[in-house]
Amino acid sequence: MNRDVIIACDFPTREQTMTFLQRFGQRKPFVKIGMELYYAEGPQIVREIKEMGHPIFLDLKLHDIPNTVEKAMRVLSRLDVDMVNLHAAGTKDMMEAALRGLTRPDGTRPLLIAVTQLTSTNQQRMEQELLIPHPMEEVVMQYAQNAREAGLDGVVCSPLEVQGVHACCGKDFVTVTPGIRFADSRQDDQHRITTPEKARSLGADYIVVGRPITAAESPEEAYRRCVDAFI
Ligand code: C5P
Repeated sequence: MNRDVIIACDFPTREQTMTFLQRFGQRKPFVKIGMELYYAEGPQIVREIKEMGHPIFLDLKLHDIPNTVEKAMRVLSRLDVDMVNLHAAGTKDMMEAALRGLTRPDGTRPLLIAVTQLTSTNQQRMEQELLIPHPMEEVVMQYAQNAREAGLDGVVCSPLEVQGVHACCGKDFVTVTPGIRFADSRQDDQHRITTPEKARSLGADYIVVGRPITAAESPEEAYRRCVDAFI
């Protein structure tokens, strides 16, 4: 298992991102680049951070018709990132197309991870707005199984869903979990949170940590604290 801590680089500009990453010196943490930074700076920011030596999770959560997603993934495959994602709600057809697009001519590809139900969606909204009348846990497991059957490598999920996902999709099916907080840090807008220690004991493969590191007085110290507790 490749357990690791991924820092969510949720910054609006290249300048702020570089200032932040320079704090880590020769240490090159795994970083997540999301929509905010990617839409602001484009693919060049991805190339630049990769050249600096950081593994990258490109969190763009693709969701469109299979043909469009396949072509978009083909373009992303040239960026040499380590992990990309999409919405499992696009169905198995879309996920299989994504996998085809992401696979490079030499057969290599980044890990492909599916978002199940966003952690911002709750049971009531899922039932009343999306007309999905099943328990959240069941929906998440069904989406995870669809992702596994489509050939994907894993899912983004709540730390509290890790054990269920591993039980239904196998121990090797990768779980990437946001919603991580130190026992003594702020909750912010996250609801179903867990500490790095607890995420480790639940069997999470990767934790995604944003504000507890990016907004800390000493981000290096906060990162080290996460690594010591999780890896
Ligand atoms: O600052 P914080 O630790 O809450 O950041 C968590 C990161 O993980 C953010 O980039 C957020 O967009 C992302 N994320 C999440 N919940 C999900 C999927 C992604 O918090 N279900």
